[in-house]
Amino acid sequence: MDIRIVQVSDIDEAEVASVFDECWQDTEPSVMMHGPQGYRRVTGWLDIEPKASAVAYSEDRPVGVVLIGLREPDRGYVASLAVNPSFRGEGCGRRLMQWGLARTRAWGCRKVGLHVFEENKRALSLYRSLGFGPVRRIGHWEGNIKCKPSNTLTFTHPGIEEAFSLTGRPDRPPLWENEPRSLMNLKDNVVCVMAWKHGEPFGYMIYSTRSLCWVLDLNVRNGASPEEATELIFQLPTARFLPAVFTTVPEGGENERLVRCLGLRQDRTRVEMELRLSQDTVS
Ligand SMILES: CC(C)(COP(=O)(O)OP(=O)(O)OC[C@H]1O[C@@H](n2cnc3c(N)ncnc32)[C@H](O)[C@@H]1OP(=O)(O)O)[C@@H](O)C(=O)NCCC(=O)NCCS
Repeated sequence: MDIRIVQVSDIDEAEVASVFDECWQDTEPSVMMHGPQGYRRVTGWLDIEPKASAVAYSEDRPVGVVLIGLREPDRGYVASLAVNPSFRGEGCGRRLMQWGLARTRAWGCRKVGLHVFEENKRALSLYRSLGFGPVRRIGHWEGNIKCKPSNTLTFTHPGIEEAFSLTGRPDRPPLWENEPRSLMNLKDNVVCVMAWKHGEPFGYMIYSTRSLCWVLDLNVRNGASPEEATELIFQLPTARFLPAVFTTVPEGGENERLVRCLGLRQDRTRVEMELRLSQDTVS
């Protein structure tokens, strides 16, 4: 298949949104953009760099898309890669990745990261063959929670930066896979709840109300009991009325212990992968 790659900054936003939706509708319809407004929201949210992101054309038909974000000055992130179902298996995904990685390296990045669902064998094998290696596994958890009220905690709603200044920035990654900088990009859709115990900051929770209530980060003092963590999570508006919660946590850490205690169930697992860019890895 003859493939032409065009960076997204040279393409109409509506066209990128439309090819993105065609490519994702069979596997993850929940990520579809539904027009230019959705395109702007998603690309702003994920810090997408339009000069490192592209659409693949076969003849004049758009058939695939890669969106790459820049996290830190020297770190790129493949936020999305997908090919139209009728054009898969013909080298388009590989070409888009090679183009994106070359751009990211030209940008000065030394590392590129991504997340892929464990069951997505096709994508996993593509990433492995490009030199990506696994870094950690991240569980997706969801379920209902029950709260037994107690009087030990009180709650306020500061901004994210204020919460960090009270508790200290977390020394581990947030529950969600992106850095706090990206959490703040969510702006209007993000709420922070701060928990206090005996007048001292006890922890915070950051959540998004974009689709279902999604806990992006939960940071409580070491040794917090499940009841106390539940009290904090119960501050979610959905937890009060429809106590369904969704969150993602790295396997094996303190947060996993908490979500397990909360009675959430793990349904899927994502693998975080990373590639160190060098002269040889991308050509
Ligand atoms: C993953 C995806 C982007 C790959 O694009 P593609 O154009 O089909 O892939 P390519 O034809 O370039 O193949 C690249 C590699 O993928 C792997 N691959 C392709 N088809 C495969 C299949 N049927 N089974 C297993 N591996 C396969 C191979 O490693 C292949 O390398 P090779 O050509 O040296 O054999 C595409 O399948 C897709 O859009 N899937 C749905 C969206 C998605 O899951 N995106 C990834 C999210 S992390």
